[in-house]
Amino acid sequence: MKVTEIKPDIYWVGAIDWEVRDFHGYVTPNGTTYNNYLIIDEQVTLIDTVKYDFASTTINNIKDIIDPSKIVNIVVNHIEPDHVSSLDKIMALAPDAVIYISNKGKKGLDRYFDTSKWKINIVKTGDTLNTGKYNLLFLETPMLHWPDSMMTYVKEAKVLFSQDAFGQHLATSARFDDEFIECASRSEIEDSVIDYYANILMPFGQLIKTKIQEVQKLGLDIDIIAPDHGIIWRQDPSKVLNMYLDMANGKAPLRIAVIYDTMWQSTKLMTLPIFQGIKDEGVECKIIKLRATPMSDAIKEFWNSRGCLIGSPTLNNILYPTVAEFLTHLRGLRPKNRIMGAFGSYGWGGGAVKDAYEEFKRMKLDIFEPGIQALYRPSSEDNNKCYDFGREFAKKVKEYHAKF
Ligand code: FEO
Repeated sequence: MKVTEIKPDIYWVGAIDWEVRDFHGYVTPNGTTYNNYLIIDEQVTLIDTVKYDFASTTINNIKDIIDPSKIVNIVVNHIEPDHVSSLDKIMALAPDAVIYISNKGKKGLDRYFDTSKWKINIVKTGDTLNTGKYNLLFLETPMLHWPDSMMTYVKEAKVLFSQDAFGQHLATSARFDDEFIECASRSEIEDSVIDYYANILMPFGQLIKTKIQEVQKLGLDIDIIAPDHGIIWRQDPSKVLNMYLDMANGKAPLRIAVIYDTMWQSTKLMTLPIFQGIKDEGVECKIIKLRATPMSDAIKEFWNSRGCLIGSPTLNNILYPTVAEFLTHLRGLRPKNRIMGAFGSYGWGGGAVKDAYEEFKRMKLDIFEPGIQALYRPSSEDNNKCYDFGREFAKKVKEYHAKF
């Protein structure tokens, strides 16, 4: 694996994971990368490590440039195992290196490793490290997306090492945004940014805005944003900053996601006239069957739509299990600025549609009521009602969308 110089004497020394399709439960159809970086200066400094499976890859990359025993500083921006779990292997090669880490990071690091013999320097926002020609500034970003998270800015090189923020799960031979756009497409990067944000950063929109404003107030001149996953933003770092600000401010396409599951096809049959009603109202619509779709894709489709209809048959008086699982997962992501409705078939007592609305209320999402139910099999009268429901929901979504 060849290393890549991203700025004079600053190298990407990470690993490409072409195989991973299940990233702690998220589907990653395009694999990912674990990016880490090496600064060759009077004090050789490593920014982050990689997932343990790829320890030898990054060590060999470092060896292509310098003897790893020459590493003087290791910055640990984030302790999640995909970035820190090879730290012990690196420390074995550079036992005198000093680790720079946030206070919360140190506490977590102690749980993953025996750190008793390691030199550790706890840093906070505003602290700096001079490595020779370069000055590093540390910026804590707690809960973006773990309590320990921080970023590191290299002043003279104008590089922001942003750990998970602004990353994407993309395994690619391209290291930079412009290279990727040339060999693949801009829309593929944008889709990967949205997917990553929806599944990992959705709960932290307000914090993202605050942190971006903090960086802007500090007047940091940023040439390159170098995240710990995916491509590095060098052609247009403002692109991803603006995408994040837009998403944090509630921007979403005027689109409706119909997310459902079905037992004996009755709830599925309801989706068809609902879809037609939405379409006839001129709103783009996508239908997603949960048992046929990875959870993380369904979450992305939800996030990429201003309105969402949840369809669930009633099973034992409550939501169908896959729908309940989706709504529980969604609640954890603390969604905002979306309007919801629900529909579903039932045999005797019903209950799924009521449960769905209760979940929407727990999430404090805006609601379109009442929902709609069909007994056993939707009749032609039910189909007409479903069509009207879809059409009325689409009208409501258009009104709602105009507020943003
Ligand atoms: Fe890529 Fe939060 O780890």
